[in-house]
Amino acid sequence: MKAFLLSALLAGAMFGQASAAEPEMIRISTNETDLILQVAPSGRLYQSYLGDKLLDEADIRNLAWNVHAATDGSVTTRGWEVYPASGWEDYFEPAFAIEHNDGNLTSVFKYVSSETKRTDPNVSETIITLRDEVYPVEARLHYISYGKENIIKTWTEIRHEEKRPVKIARYASNMLYFSSPAYHLTEFSGDWAKEVQMSSQELHYGKKILDTKLGSRAAMHVSPFFELGLGAPVRENEGTVLLGTIGWTGNFRFTFEVDNVGNLRVLSGINPYASNYELKPNETFTTPEFIFTLSDEGAGKASRDFHDWARTYQVKKGQDDRYTLLNNWEATSFNFDEDKLERLMGEAKELGVDLFLLDDGWFANKYPRENDRAGLGDWEANRAKLPHGVRHLVEAAQQAGVKFGIWIEPEMVNPKSELFEKHPDWAIHLPNRETYYYRNQLVLDLSNPEVQEYVFGVVDKLMTENPGLAFFKWDCNSPITNVYSHYLGERQQQLYIDHVRGVYNVFRRVAEKYPDLPIMLCSGGGARCDYEAMKYFTEFWCSDNTDPVERLYIQWGFSQFFPTKTMCAHVTSWNKQASVKFRTDVAMMCKLGFDLSLDELSADELSFCQQAVANFKRLKPAILEGDLYRLVSPYEGNHMAVSHVSKDQSRATLFAYDIHPRFGEKLFPVKPQGLDPRKRYRVEEINLMPGAKPFAAHGQVFSGDFLMKVGLDLFSTNPMSSRVIELTEAR
Ligand code: DGJ
Repeated sequence: MKAFLLSALLAGAMFGQASAAEPEMIRISTNETDLILQVAPSGRLYQSYLGDKLLDEADIRNLAWNVHAATDGSVTTRGWEVYPASGWEDYFEPAFAIEHNDGNLTSVFKYVSSETKRTDPNVSETIITLRDEVYPVEARLHYISYGKENIIKTWTEIRHEEKRPVKIARYASNMLYFSSPAYHLTEFSGDWAKEVQMSSQELHYGKKILDTKLGSRAAMHVSPFFELGLGAPVRENEGTVLLGTIGWTGNFRFTFEVDNVGNLRVLSGINPYASNYELKPNETFTTPEFIFTLSDEGAGKASRDFHDWARTYQVKKGQDDRYTLLNNWEATSFNFDEDKLERLMGEAKELGVDLFLLDDGWFANKYPRENDRAGLGDWEANRAKLPHGVRHLVEAAQQAGVKFGIWIEPEMVNPKSELFEKHPDWAIHLPNRETYYYRNQLVLDLSNPEVQEYVFGVVDKLMTENPGLAFFKWDCNSPITNVYSHYLGERQQQLYIDHVRGVYNVFRRVAEKYPDLPIMLCSGGGARCDYEAMKYFTEFWCSDNTDPVERLYIQWGFSQFFPTKTMCAHVTSWNKQASVKFRTDVAMMCKLGFDLSLDELSADELSFCQQAVANFKRLKPAILEGDLYRLVSPYEGNHMAVSHVSKDQSRATLFAYDIHPRFGEKLFPVKPQGLDPRKRYRVEEINLMPGAKPFAAHGQVFSGDFLMKVGLDLFSTNPMSSRVIELTEAR
């Protein structure tokens, strides 16, 4: 990894320039990366270095007094201030902006103290306190570093002791600086059914902003993560790459600003749009967590580091198994009754999956949930469809030999509901304008603690009445529209922030009370997927688009940040031109599920699916717990390949897909990565339709070295065709 230190630019001038007083240096490190901050004589805190870990501790002193800070105690040169505020010598995007009680708009933070403690042998936390000397305002910068996983998580707390509330207009979680010959940003944008489409651009002078104003369902157009190629575009296995993400399911904003001297600052935080937050004296404003890794072996390694970290430290039940399931949304939509559901439970058992998941449409009586126009908010079983209630379904599933899970969307309300009739003021909508509805519904105002209590109660009541419920799918189908809180009164500027805090508060309470309950995070597909929410959810729904061709791109995108076990992928009938095999092979590279009726399958297709479920379960140590290698990108041609390697390298998968190859196209072998070159592996093609012949190398044994250097011929020129290969160590 190249060292991205501005000091290098003036290296000659810099060394030996230090004043007699030793500067305070703060080192935040993983096993591979150093982030080094230093206190200037002025008392202000600057970023000295972010790059490959320095081998010799003594070298850190050599970073002192670089151009980030003036040497004479005054600040004459604009430096890389760690938490710069608006209104003084920095003309670019600030991390912080405030209006003090006397109307003054400036802040200058000075270093007060820093403490570092090791919270486990692999993790340490540094807290740096900064204070304005003129106004009683304090910023506490938090950094947690995960040694082995090479991840740093950072956030900021703001507090003040002015007499009256202050208004804060900017409150970044973090700011990082880079000096590099070129910056290439990869973003993940799209829409409903088009999530996380990857595109890249070079950054030049000025700003590129990735943000959202959707309030909830906030990631519908752009996801809260990015990749930054330093010196060159992001590549899979080489080059220096920063991967960053923010844990905020509301309005977020990343600002990438290249300044007049070609440095880049990356600011991450809540989008301050319509959110001048009023902070009371002694109240603490805590920003969302920004999490990043710096890799010098491309995005592939950075993703694997993220996956390891997420499974070990962040995701609910991150190290536990996941259920395979049969969902009924695509199969039945709102049209079902007990008989139909019981038939599907039988089909779940026949397929061999663990669980049956009942989707939307099971609730509400006065305004029955027969379509998406009514009933949201009234969470009792619909008596016409389900005369014996949810408990009966849980029991019926038990009898069928599968577990039972249920869909909810408790943050929302249809105006046609008893809930809205009783509590119209609980919904976010304007008192004095015509209401605009997105999917015929409104967002409940979770800035209101009473509403938080109600939403928590939806899950709590269902669980109390039906302790056999084994799984939830938590949906969120509307952005915030008609932005007005009946609870916040004159503090409307706080709605976007306090609402999201309320959402997380409810998630946390549910997770605390039901720590073993698996819950799928969903938002009209994958429009809500962030690492704060994932503390409380075991998995997420990547997209309503289950056309396997589209899914390849979507899954490729999400895999940059999220481990396989969190990414739900179901076999459906979205693209009937694609074979059941192709559809299943695409879903099986993530957390496999189904959402179709077995009536749609021929006897051979059914037996294929049963075998695929069994294969998936056998291969979980590789697919769910192993290392993901993205081998061939769908963005670079007509094929895609990925591989999962178990941590002990004793087994692996290879998934190879032909998308829309061209006639006579030249085909290349797929070369797996991450195998042990000295081990020998038996190669077997699995997921074959009954009667289909396996590929030529089926049953042969090769060394890991040979496989990685020579590869296997897995691609074809057949459209929408696929192969799944199992590699098992031959002893
Ligand atoms: C949107 C989700 O993404 C779908 O999977 C399904 O649950 C529908 N909502 C139900 O309304």
